[in-house]
Amino acid sequence: MSVRIAISVLALALLPLASPSLARAEDNADKAKAVKEEGGKYLDADGSPTYKIENGTVDWYTFSGYRRYHSDCHVCHGQDGTGSSYAPALANSLKNIDYPTFLSIVAQGRKNTGNGKENVMPAFGDNKNVYCYLDDLYVYLRARADGAAPRGRPPKHEDKAKAAKDAEASCMGG
Ligand code: HEC
Repeated sequence: MSVRIAISVLALALLPLASPSLARAEDNADKAKAVKEEGGKYLDADGSPTYKIENGTVDWYTFSGYRRYHSDCHVCHGQDGTGSSYAPALANSLKNIDYPTFLSIVAQGRKNTGNGKENVMPAFGDNKNVYCYLDDLYVYLRARADGAAPRGRPPKHEDKAKAAKDAEASCMGG
């Protein structure tokens, strides 16, 4: 009897901690809903790039972001955005980082000199292999943060639209 009371008191004590983050995950998935499509790129109601994942098929940007992430970010941020002892789990960070903030962190970098550590996020503002694919990276990590993209390489993806090919060619060539 007293054990049962203790357990329910514990459950009540934990409830206020657990529910805001659950509510946020739902809110985020809601906000990420694609309302518009422009040349294979999906946009949410705020006009920020977002993912579209249906029956295991991901949009082109989520797929491309997966590849770019694993060529330029995963050495520090871990496989599938799960983090490492050196750098935070972006699959968590993106629950709280919006599109403009993401762009500025990746372009300018960041340095944490607290706690006697010196963990450095490099600036990628002059690295075409990253800045030509910022939307791809954002869309992929957003999908990971919302729990919409599972770990690993997405098995099926939409074709790369001509608009995406053109944008890539002009960014990489310019
Ligand atoms: C050399 C290691 C390294 C690489 C490569 C790297 N990062 Fe980072 N990143 C870090 C570190 C360390 C931090 C934490 C810095 C701090 O605490 O201020 C960080 C922080 C971030 C943050 C802020 C996270 C938060 O919770 O505030 C974002 C977003 C981010 N990185 C995105 C990227 C992306 C996208 C890439 C690939 C294009 C990338 N990083 C590549 C080391 C790296």
